[in-house]
Amino acid sequence: MVKVAVAGYGVIGQRLADGVSLQKDMELVGVVDAALTISVKALKERGMPYDLYAANPESVATFEAAGIPVSGTMEDLVQKVDIVLDATGAGIGAKNKKIYEKYGVKAVFQGGENNDVADVFFHGYANYEKGLNKDYLKLTSCNTTGLIRAIDCLDRKVGIEKVAITIVRRVADPGDYHRGLTNALQVDKAPSHQALDLMTIMPHIDATGILVHTPVTHGHFITVVATPKTDITAEETIEAFQAHDRIRVVSIDEGFLGNASLFRYARDLGNSRGDMYEISIWKDTVVKSGRDVMFGIHIPQESVTIPETMDAIRAALGMQETREEGTSKTNEYLEMARWK
Ligand SMILES: NC(=O)c1ccc[n+]([C@@H]2O[C@H](COP(=O)([O-])OP(=O)(O)OC[C@H]3O[C@@H](n4cnc5c(N)ncnc54)[C@H](O)[C@@H]3O)[C@@H](O)[C@H]2O)c1
Repeated sequence: MVKVAVAGYGVIGQRLADGVSLQKDMELVGVVDAALTISVKALKERGMPYDLYAANPESVATFEAAGIPVSGTMEDLVQKVDIVLDATGAGIGAKNKKIYEKYGVKAVFQGGENNDVADVFFHGYANYEKGLNKDYLKLTSCNTTGLIRAIDCLDRKVGIEKVAITIVRRVADPGDYHRGLTNALQVDKAPSHQALDLMTIMPHIDATGILVHTPVTHGHFITVVATPKTDITAEETIEAFQAHDRIRVVSIDEGFLGNASLFRYARDLGNSRGDMYEISIWKDTVVKSGRDVMFGIHIPQESVTIPETMDAIRAALGMQETREEGTSKTNEYLEMARWK
């Protein structure tokens, strides 16, 4: 049984904790946070399903003053595990790395950290083997994770030469106030980091793209124009997506009108917090433009990176030697593709 800790019990961290506890070959030893957030309060009200450790001695006092049981400090926890999933805010992971190095413990960082925090910029489907037995892995961001899933799926089928993407990016997560109460689109300088990140992980593909922030919270939407090396029809593209265990193919006629329908569907499924580990691609959006194929993807930003982070644990600890074995174990335990 591989022993895992989660540092940062926020939007991503609490979902990573749930994800790890579903893996039958992993044990979640504890979670760490530094502040008395509402997620920590909810953890207590739920009866402490996960042991909480304090980021430092000062936060032990904060938690104890609020009646939250504390199992020790982050340094105590790090010594009990094989790997830490660091989901603290951007930049904090790089500081925490010193603790991981001190105790010789492996770590997987999330997308907000700089790439140089890790030995490998990782995606379970695109470069699993690069992560094998490495000490420090960094996951792609939510958009890049979902985007690479779809592009890798087509790349392995027909080879992809080039992609151009447009991302309509949700501005904040549900419950966030720090971006204000907005009603405006904001355009980023091109190319977007997701296109550059895709090229870092898949250097054989020429990628560029534009990103527009939009004041919604339930998911990003990406359109992709992909140039295949070998011709592929719209039907073959849909079939390739349908065969992928982390891609749900949906249609407008079924009632999936956009991001809100998928969020509602996830809640109707009883998924915790309305999470979806899969990306969704509308079959209605798959069209040809000359040789190119174009399609639209929904990215559930809060939960999409959980499966690939489980893959990262498997790679870093050499639990499975190949991407096929690693990703299919994760998929089995997360019950992916049960919609098929
Ligand atoms: N929110 C998303 O949609 C999303 C999607 C994909 C990736 N990410 C990435 O995941 C990472 C975490 O983002 P988030 O949205 O979950 O942030 P968040 O702010 O919701 O959670 C971060 C948590 O870390 C805690 N923390 C701060 N300092 C700490 C420390 N020293 N030790 C332990 N915990 C500490 C904070 O109190 C907070 O609870 C970032 O790298 C982000 O870029 C976020």
